[in-house]
Amino acid sequence: MKLADNKATLSFSNGAPSVELPVYQGNIGPDVIDIRKLYGQSGMFTYDPGFLSTAACQSAITYIDGDKGELLYRGYPIEQLAKNCNFLETCYLLLYGELPNETQKADFENRVTQHTMVNEQMQFFLRGFRRDAHPMAVLTGLVGGMSAFYHDSTDITNPEHREIAAIRLIAKLPTLVSMAYKYGVGQPYMYPKNDLSYAGNFMRMMFGNPCEEYKVNPVVERALDRIFILHADHEQNASTSTVRLCGSSGTNPFAAISAGVACLWGPAHGGANEACLNMLEHIQANGGISKVGEFMEQVKDKNSGVKLMGFGHRVYKNYDPRAKLMQETCNEILQELGLEKDPLFALAKQLEKIALEDDYFVQRKLYPNVDFYSGIVQRAIGIPVKLFTGIFALARTVGWIAQLNEQMADPEYKIGRPRQLYTGSVARDVKPITQR
Ligand code: SDX
Repeated sequence: MKLADNKATLSFSNGAPSVELPVYQGNIGPDVIDIRKLYGQSGMFTYDPGFLSTAACQSAITYIDGDKGELLYRGYPIEQLAKNCNFLETCYLLLYGELPNETQKADFENRVTQHTMVNEQMQFFLRGFRRDAHPMAVLTGLVGGMSAFYHDSTDITNPEHREIAAIRLIAKLPTLVSMAYKYGVGQPYMYPKNDLSYAGNFMRMMFGNPCEEYKVNPVVERALDRIFILHADHEQNASTSTVRLCGSSGTNPFAAISAGVACLWGPAHGGANEACLNMLEHIQANGGISKVGEFMEQVKDKNSGVKLMGFGHRVYKNYDPRAKLMQETCNEILQELGLEKDPLFALAKQLEKIALEDDYFVQRKLYPNVDFYSGIVQRAIGIPVKLFTGIFALARTVGWIAQLNEQMADPEYKIGRPRQLYTGSVARDVKPITQR
């Protein structure tokens, strides 16, 4: 970042001395007012719950322009990456800053492939869970549990450890997600198969079984690979910020990533794809398209507590570029699988049409986000609704670890420790219980 020739001066109407604050510029996007010295100079904190106007770090990984609906991974538009690259190339880009050449691509794919198995002991963790446990509960445990095995990659301050931990996490998440799924359906785990692609290997571990050969459908394989690309990283979203804050204590990378898994699970974040599909199925079961108008009235009624899941975004005040690509993938998959008449897809498109013409949504700049169509694609592929967020976590792991490693490689990084505006009781004495 570079010092701008602009400065911010904070003055106080009570005559307290004003404070001069430096302004910094990035390469694109909003400048920042550096408030690091504010408390020391004014005795006051800034106040920004939800971080609507706060940059918590500097980063060179992902850039979002919410007004334009633009998303860049290391400067490359998501539309071009989704069209011209595969997920492992995108992982390489997010981790190292450049797209790989053919040799680098082959080497990286080979390194990931060599790490797809998990320690044989890990399968015994799952036995402790109920079979009907939510896969995200299992995954939070399994990812955190990796800390108990890979001791040669737990020191986050060691660049070699950070590198191997990144490879292991990218390589093993598909194995762990498919194990969580198999455990839930009572089928045997499938070992990874090294001659398959990243997405193809995941499909086989999910839908294959030891009794027969599994044939990868190349259209589904490509769609899944694209879904992974679209979910790979997204600037300082809630789960990435969780990973950064958790990792800032110096804890091991697996523990920090498991914190990201836990945060992503929430319906306001990565859990929205599951919530969105449940919403579509609920509308479909209660009258379908004919009931969309009624449902939208509920959404606009604040007291109903009903939200249009898969819509709205803290940053995008325009169409989420990933939603457009996801809708295209939806079309491709439904055509390929002969499901073009899928009533949920028709319902989703109708909901989107109504919302984009309705003042409530237009005024609030509410557009479809990445979660609006992703559930329909995943359901068509045969992924159970409860596993949607697990797929999101699988894909986002590379973003989390790239962001965490960027933070830990910054010599200026400090442990994150926000302050507060205290509104509780002032100091008071404990009374004997007979007087309380
Ligand atoms: C992801 O941050 C990221 O980058 C996240 C993500 C990533 O890749 O990491 O992009 C992934 O999490 C996408 C978002 C998935 N969540 C959902 O689809 C859940 C539904 N969406 C909302 O809960 C909401 O839009 C959020 C949480 C996504 C954003 O919330 P904000 O920024 O805090 O906005 P807000 O809640 O203050 O909403 C502004 C207004 C409010 O109305 P008013 O009080 O101004 O009258 O818009 C309304 C909200 O009530 N609103 C909605 C709505 N989303 C916002 N009303 C109906 N349906 C919705 N979905």
